[in-house]
Amino acid sequence: MRIDVFTLVPHAYAWLTEQQPVAGVLGTELELRLFNYRDSTPLRAGQVDDEPYGGGAGMVLRVDVVAAALEAAYGGEAPGPVIALTPKGRALTQAVVEELAALPAFTLLSSRFEGFDERIVEHLSTDAISVGPYVLSNGDLPAMLLLDAVARRLPGALAEGSGELESFSAELGGGLEYPHYTRPADFRGWPVPDVLLSGDHARVEAWRREQVT
Ligand SMILES: C[S@@+](CC[C@H](N)C(=O)[O-])C[C@H]1O[C@@H](n2cnc3c(N)ncnc32)[C@H](O)[C@@H]1O
Repeated sequence: MRIDVFTLVPHAYAWLTEQQPVAGVLGTELELRLFNYRDSTPLRAGQVDDEPYGGGAGMVLRVDVVAAALEAAYGGEAPGPVIALTPKGRALTQAVVEELAALPAFTLLSSRFEGFDERIVEHLSTDAISVGPYVLSNGDLPAMLLLDAVARRLPGALAEGSGELESFSAELGGGLEYPHYTRPADFRGWPVPDVLLSGDHARVEAWRREQVT
C-alpha cells in the first residue's frame, strides 16, 4: 500500500522509518512518501500559515498552500482517502486501523499552529481522524501513531502469529488480549499462573480464552 504524508517536518519521520514494524515493510508492503508543504507553497519565502480572520491567537495553515501541495503531488484526484488529522475527527480505533490497512492508498494531512483553515477539512479532505480527546501541538505525532498501527497490520510486519489475536481485534470482539508472562516464574512472591507452567497446551488455550471473555 502507499501512504502519503503532508507535513512541515518530513525529517521527523526518520525515527519512525528506522523502527519496526515500519522499517520491516518499507519498500515492500509499504511505500511511504513525505511531502513538505513548504516545497510547493505558492507564497513567498516558504510561507504556509496566516493570521486567522476575525482575530485571535495563533496562525492557521492556509487552504491554498494545502491545495497546491495536493496538486503538486497528484495533479488531480488523490489515489485514496485524504485524511485530515484533527482533534475534531472521528476517533482512531483498531477498527479504523484495519479499515485503513486494507486500502491500496491513503493520504494524511498534518497541521500545527492553531490548526487547519476549516476549508481544508471541508473541501480538500475526505475524512478526519483524531487520535484522542486531547490536543497535541502538531499532527505529526498522530500521523506516526497511525502509521505504526497500520504498518503492523501489513503482511510480513510481525513475527508469524504475533498479530493474529491482539487487544481490540475483531476476533476478540474489540476486547483485550489475554495477559502475557515470562521468566522468572516467581518474582517477589508474584507467581505466574500455574496453568501456564503446566505444559498442557489445551489447558493453556482454555485459560487464555477465559481471560478475554
Ligand atoms: C494545536 S493543534 C490545533 C488545535 C485546534 N486549535 C483545536 O482546538 O482543535 C495543531 C494540530 O495538531 C494536530 N492534532 C492535535 N491534536 C490532535 C489529535 N488529538 N488528533 C489528531 N490530530 C491532532 C492537528 O493536525 C491540529 O491541526
